[in-house]
Amino acid sequence: MGQRAMHGGTIRRLWPPDASAFRDHLLRLDAESRYDRFAMAVSDDFLRQYAARCFGLDDLIYGFFVDGELRGAGELRQVAGPDGPTGFDGLAEAAFSVERPWRRLGVGAELMARIVRAARNRRADTLYMSCLSRNKAMQALARKFSAEMRFESGDVGGVLTNAGPSAFSLLYEAMDDANGFATAMLDLQRRMFSMQPERR
Ligand SMILES: CC(C)(COP(=O)(O)OP(=O)(O)OC[C@H]1O[C@@H](n2cnc3c(N)ncnc32)[C@H](O)[C@@H]1OP(=O)(O)O)[C@@H](O)C(=O)NCCC(=O)NCCS
Repeated sequence: MGQRAMHGGTIRRLWPPDASAFRDHLLRLDAESRYDRFAMAVSDDFLRQYAARCFGLDDLIYGFFVDGELRGAGELRQVAGPDGPTGFDGLAEAAFSVERPWRRLGVGAELMARIVRAARNRRADTLYMSCLSRNKAMQALARKFSAEMRFESGDVGGVLTNAGPSAFSLLYEAMDDANGFATAMLDLQRRMFSMQPERR
């Protein structure tokens, strides 16, 4: 599950300089995909504000990039208990979005494998995802992981129950993120060069 090319793109972790790519990806989702992703209808303004809040210390996002554009994302974040945030221990929330032309290519499964591993490494034993009963794609995707996790789905949510970390799951995440960080820096450099005025 290392950082490798798939369908002309790569999957890596997102860092704060990727915030605008994440926002633009969410804005490209059509109304039905937005509804499936957020379990409600959401406006462009909502998505802009949402994307701006998504790079906190405890947020973790993996993205699928094609030619520098983010085309899919898997998100993991802690769920605040009644006494406020508790870290990832216990309950975490996961969410996925893949733009239509890149669906049914295995991108969602690759993102989910990383999110499940990250949840496991943070000892989040229960992974909640909003998954409407009509959302057959998300249900089928979650069931792909039923060997590792138990999946229960209801009207608006699915829950996966997770195992704890292993030496390998910790090591693979660290290696994946180190590779991804190097690529993110190269992407940033490329973006900065492309913004510079041409010299005559
Ligand atoms: C759910 C979603 C992320 C799946 O992404 P994806 O990249 O198409 O998923 P994959 O290609 O990895 O598919 C993995 C498996 O899920 C199942 N699946 C995916 N799309 C499906 C569909 N439309 N109908 C039935 N099963 C589907 C299949 O079992 C598939 O495996 P297979 O192609 O080997 O049969 C994508 O459809 C999406 O972004 N939907 C809108 C947002 C959303 O619903 N998010 C989930 C709630 S947070």
